[in-house]
Amino acid sequence: MSRAFLIDTDTASDDAVALIMALKAADVTVAAITVVAGNVGVEQACRNALYTAELCGSNVPVFRGAEAPLLRPLEDASWFHGRDGMGDHGYPSPRRSVEPLHAADAIIKTAETYPGLVLVTLGPLTNLALALRRKPDLGKLIGRCVVMGGAPCCEGNVTPAAEFNIWCDPEAAHSVVRGRLPLELVGWQLCRGTAALNQEDIEKIKGFGTPLAHFAIECNSTARAAYLEQTGEHGISLPDPVAMSIALDQTIATSSSTHYIDVETSSALTRGMTVVDRLGVAGNNRNRSIWSDLLPQPPNAKVHWSLDVERWKDSLYRALSS
Ligand code: RIB
Ligand code: CA
Repeated sequence: MSRAFLIDTDTASDDAVALIMALKAADVTVAAITVVAGNVGVEQACRNALYTAELCGSNVPVFRGAEAPLLRPLEDASWFHGRDGMGDHGYPSPRRSVEPLHAADAIIKTAETYPGLVLVTLGPLTNLALALRRKPDLGKLIGRCVVMGGAPCCEGNVTPAAEFNIWCDPEAAHSVVRGRLPLELVGWQLCRGTAALNQEDIEKIKGFGTPLAHFAIECNSTARAAYLEQTGEHGISLPDPVAMSIALDQTIATSSSTHYIDVETSSALTRGMTVVDRLGVAGNNRNRSIWSDLLPQPPNAKVHWSLDVERWKDSLYRALSS
């Protein structure tokens, strides 16, 4: 039976590969792609999403969303993905245009059309936060909300404390974790080390000889260089495709647990930090005085702590080899 997905994305090079994985998945109907400013400006992200859908032969409707975070100016990640977000290879303009409906309304309309919708977010959570403002009980219609974002109990990639998607619009993330959605957090730590594509993996993908395989490696050329500079690690790190592999098959995540999580919005040092109460101390009476100003909240998200790297990469290979 086909599952309905909505993908919210700040489409740059890793988002594009995640879109391909969903659009090529046999048992998934991508009902909509909603676009948000993040990696690049929203207009460029829309072009990138439309172009990627075109490469997959898909007419999936694409909806433009927020041009900036809820309260802050946009600070993009073109330093990582390239000016156009796709490695600056001069890809042609897409043939189609976006739909007239705003992305936040498209999220609501799609959820109402497809109850049990799988919502996958690959960028800042601005559109989802706007949708929740317009429909606070949106969560009742959502089957899973898989969020690529956060650095649960570990280092960030844009500051020592925070991962880009959450850091870019922390107020939106703060609102989303309070939105009573069935949240699953796929943090940046899951796309590093052996989960990144090494040279052997890259050669394997190139060996498929398909247009999608060529595109997936080519559009991540800038990101590959930036990843080495950022972490000292070689290879192509693909956070959004890792999150998509788990959205497509939750069993690829090998250890997960549900906790109270929250997002820092006031401190410059820890802006966008995803605070995970992994030990459950928030509800501990002995610590009540410490937490007196922070009413302990019930667990509100499932955090994925590890994944099966071989199965994640097989999921990618299936999409790119067809
Ligand atoms: O931190 C990684 C995330 O930020 C990915 O979604 C990447 O596309 C950027 O949006
Ligand atoms: Ca992204």
